[in-house]
Amino acid sequence: MNQSAPTPAEYWENRYRENGKSWSGNVNAALEREIAGVAPGTALDIGSGEGGDALWLAHNGWSVTAVDISPTALAIGAAAQGPEDDVTWVAADLADWTPPGTYDLVTSTFLHSFVELPREAILRRAAAAVAPGGLLLIVGHSGAPHWLAAHEDADLHANEHRTDQGEHTHDDADLPTAQDVLTALFHDNESLDRAEWTVLAQGLVERPIAAPDGSESTIFDSVLKLQRALV
Ligand SMILES: C[S@@+](CC[C@H](N)C(=O)[O-])C[C@H]1O[C@@H](n2cnc3c(N)ncnc32)[C@H](O)[C@@H]1O
Repeated sequence: MNQSAPTPAEYWENRYRENGKSWSGNVNAALEREIAGVAPGTALDIGSGEGGDALWLAHNGWSVTAVDISPTALAIGAAAQGPEDDVTWVAADLADWTPPGTYDLVTSTFLHSFVELPREAILRRAAAAVAPGGLLLIVGHSGAPHWLAAHEDADLHANEHRTDQGEHTHDDADLPTAQDVLTALFHDNESLDRAEWTVLAQGLVERPIAAPDGSESTIFDSVLKLQRALV
C-alpha cells in the first residue's frame, strides 16, 4: 500500500508531538545580537516554533505575534509564557497566511523545512508587513556542522536549539545565502520598493556550537537585516 507524503502541517505537528520539546527555549544568538537595544514595539515571528525568540522579545517589552504551523509547538511556547509576556500564538500555514497588519519588527529564524515550503513567497509577504521605519530580520542556516555534513538531513540539526537527535528521511532543506534572500525579496515584486530599504546587516555570522563529543566547534548562520524607510 502506498503511503502518501505528509502535508507540511502533518509533518511538523507529528514531529513536535513525537519529539516533545525540540529546542532549548533560548533566544537565537543572531536575533539577540541584532535586536538587543532596539526600542520595543510590535513584532511578528514567522515559523516561531516553540517561541524561544518570541518569548525573549516579549521579556524585552515587545508585543509579539508568533506564527507556526504546529499547534503543539505553540502550546509549548505558551506554557513557558509569563503573565507579563505579550505574545499571541497563531497556528497557521504561512504558505497561505497573510499578516493582518504591520509590525515594527518582522523576524524569521531558521524557517527551513524538509517538506514543501514556499519560503520566498512567505518572506516577501512578511517584508510587506514591516511598518515604515521597521526592521526585517531573516536568519538561516548556511550548512551543517562538520560532524553531520555527510548526513542528508544535516541542515536542521545545525540549529543549536535542538535537544533531540531524531533522524529524517527527507530531501535537504533549501539554504539560500543572505544575498539570495535579498535578491528574491525584491525581484519582480511590485509590492516592495527597493529604494525604501536599507541593508543594516548581510552575510555569514559565526556561532559557537558544542559537538556531540563535547568539543567546541563553530557554525555559520546567514543573516539579513533590513530597515524600511519612514515615509
Ligand atoms: C527549524 S524550526 C525553527 C523554529 C524557531 N524559529 C527557532 O529558531 O527555534 C522551523 C519552524 O518552521 C515551522 N514551519 C515550517 N513550515 C511552516 C509553514 N508552512 N507555516 C508555518 N510554520 C512552518 C515549523 O513548524 C518549525 O517550528
